[in-house]
Amino acid sequence: MAREKWAAVDEYVSGLLAPHDDALREALEASEAAGIPAIQVSPPQAKLLALLAESIGAKTILEFGTLGAYSTIWLARALPDGGRLITLEADPGHAALARENIARAELSDVVELRVGPALDALPQLEAEGAGPFDFVFIDADKVNTPAYFAWSVERCHPGSLIVADNVIRDGLLVDPECDDPAILEQRRLHEMIAADPRLDATTIQTVGGKGYDGFTLIRVSA
Ligand code: SAH
Ligand code: DHB
Ligand code: MG
Repeated sequence: MAREKWAAVDEYVSGLLAPHDDALREALEASEAAGIPAIQVSPPQAKLLALLAESIGAKTILEFGTLGAYSTIWLARALPDGGRLITLEADPGHAALARENIARAELSDVVELRVGPALDALPQLEAEGAGPFDFVFIDADKVNTPAYFAWSVERCHPGSLIVADNVIRDGLLVDPECDDPAILEQRRLHEMIAADPRLDATTIQTVGGKGYDGFTLIRVSA
């Protein structure tokens, strides 16, 4: 079955190029023990996020959707000394586990986890003058991806990168029969990007242990 092969290739790649240390392994073990869904980015995808953040020298990162902090830990480790990551999570159970995993990775001083629906957190971030952000990872409730994206673009700067996860969903992105709002919003995301001359972007389809999906990478160029 194709999916087993995709998972095996992910394992091969991550074993050599994106291996887990104790903190990452324990984060996933604790998440599994707590029964939270294993929908975190794959190790090769997490490594890509970290490479992108490091490549632009990101010092400020904003993440939508923490889950058990797997992607959070990878991204926080890509920061230089003094770098900061804010991550937003609606589910108090996920957030509690994420906090433990972040502490175990010794990143509590780097990562600020805010609990509550991300849309509610944004006015507060605004009031605090948070940002500008060098790197943004959008991976929460998919129906709000364009809202998170629109807010983030205004708090980025030329050279910032934004990654939006789960935009392909088995190819539903282009299925004319599909009327799932979470998919329609991914089309809207693409249309928003295409219409904004400040943005440069591409979308990459991916396969792996989680199936067939993909992400959009956006560069704020002006
Ligand atoms: N980024 C994580 C995976 C996130 S999964 C990783 O790759 O490791 C999506 C997360 O978004 C879930 O934990 C879910 O509880 C959270 N979420 C759902 N709706 C949300 C909302 N409105 N605001 C913030 N987080 C939300
Ligand atoms: C799923 C996958 C994700 O990467 C995510 O962020 C949310 C949900 C899923 O496969 O259901
Ligand atoms: Mg995701």
